[in-house]
Amino acid sequence: MAPSLIIITVILWVCTLLAVSAEYTRPLPRQTLSILDEDSDPSAPQQVHISVVGLDKMRVTWITKADTPSIVHYGTESGVYTSSNTGSSERYSYLLIYKSGYIHDVVIGPLQPNNLYYYRCGDSNSFQELSFNTPPDQLPINLAVIGDLGQTGWTTTTLQHIESWDHDMLILPGDLSYADYIQPLWDSFGRLVEPLASKRPWMVTEGNHEVEKMPFKSSFEAYNARWKMPFEESGSNSNLYYSFDTAGGAVHVIMLGSYAEYKPGSDQHTWLVSDLNKINRKTTPWVFAIIHAPWYNTNTAHQREGDYMRYAMESLLYKARVDVVFSGHVHAYERFDRVYDNQVDQCGAVHITIGDGGNKEGLAKSYEEPKSNISLFREASFGHGRLEVMNATHAHWSWNRNDDDVAVISDSVWLVSLSSQENQACC
Ligand SMILES: [Fe+2]
Repeated sequence: MAPSLIIITVILWVCTLLAVSAEYTRPLPRQTLSILDEDSDPSAPQQVHISVVGLDKMRVTWITKADTPSIVHYGTESGVYTSSNTGSSERYSYLLIYKSGYIHDVVIGPLQPNNLYYYRCGDSNSFQELSFNTPPDQLPINLAVIGDLGQTGWTTTTLQHIESWDHDMLILPGDLSYADYIQPLWDSFGRLVEPLASKRPWMVTEGNHEVEKMPFKSSFEAYNARWKMPFEESGSNSNLYYSFDTAGGAVHVIMLGSYAEYKPGSDQHTWLVSDLNKINRKTTPWVFAIIHAPWYNTNTAHQREGDYMRYAMESLLYKARVDVVFSGHVHAYERFDRVYDNQVDQCGAVHITIGDGGNKEGLAKSYEEPKSNISLFREASFGHGRLEVMNATHAHWSWNRNDDDVAVISDSVWLVSLSSQENQACC
């Protein structure tokens, strides 16, 4: 063999070795965790989580095994509760085999923005003191976004990564517990997420795993009872779709329901038209929409499942110049260009699928080839998203892959609001 040929062969061999060693090995699914109820006191609050109500109030939700008062004591100094408010509790049953604990619902406030509050659920001094931070009343604001969370070892990793980031709120585009009719798994999920969900507001919408069909009952009985969102405040008559403002009204988030009626003439469609009409882009430079089943998707999993909803609603979001549409459902990450009606359109929304929270079903690894030109980045790995809305014109999005147990930024992009002068053609 000629010396030059030997050198070329060695170089090719080294390159191949480097390429192989640099390749990321996709992790396998992890087992469903079962977070046991270790509290022997039936009055003790558990599964505490919070969600925003308007710009200056917070809903506190928790569960007790015993029928106890629905009261929250709170204040800005640890152990000194200068205010309190009462609410109500409800239970639900599943067939003859399960009856939920008392699910308490108390709205507290008005609260100061960007402030640390200490609070205690229930009426006993022996119950644990918790704390949360209220969101700011102006930009910047940091939003964690993650779908299809489940309750596995990967979920734990994702939650640890999110907790290590100084975020103001978590947005979840559906598929929470993967209880799938096994009601105690809803309780287990509540206990798993409490350390994070009791500190920052969690704003969620439903996925297909929230659908639990039961004779003569709502298919969302468990979800609606446990994860009540501020739908009434946004003029919606269903917990399955609603909207809210944050950062003093600079950000409007529309939580749509992929599993509620969405066609023209439906309650959801009528509500969406009305909600979009109320937005003033001079005071609200950012508008985000959240769905579960993606409207754009080049993964072979769940192909075209979001099409009918897209046909019904995409033109409404386009006319309102919604900046980003986040979805879940597909257990992978994908970021699209600005699109409308399947074409690149600089006045359309950026579509991002972030259904890779860590659920028991594992990753969706197969993609359509060749890749569509509207898909800019796609990868089947567990991870979470960070949306830093910096000011009225610019936001930074990054996707943080769970590279084994370490978070690594694997995709990032600067977003410019469709209401800004830079996008004058869209105004
Ligand atoms: Fe799903």
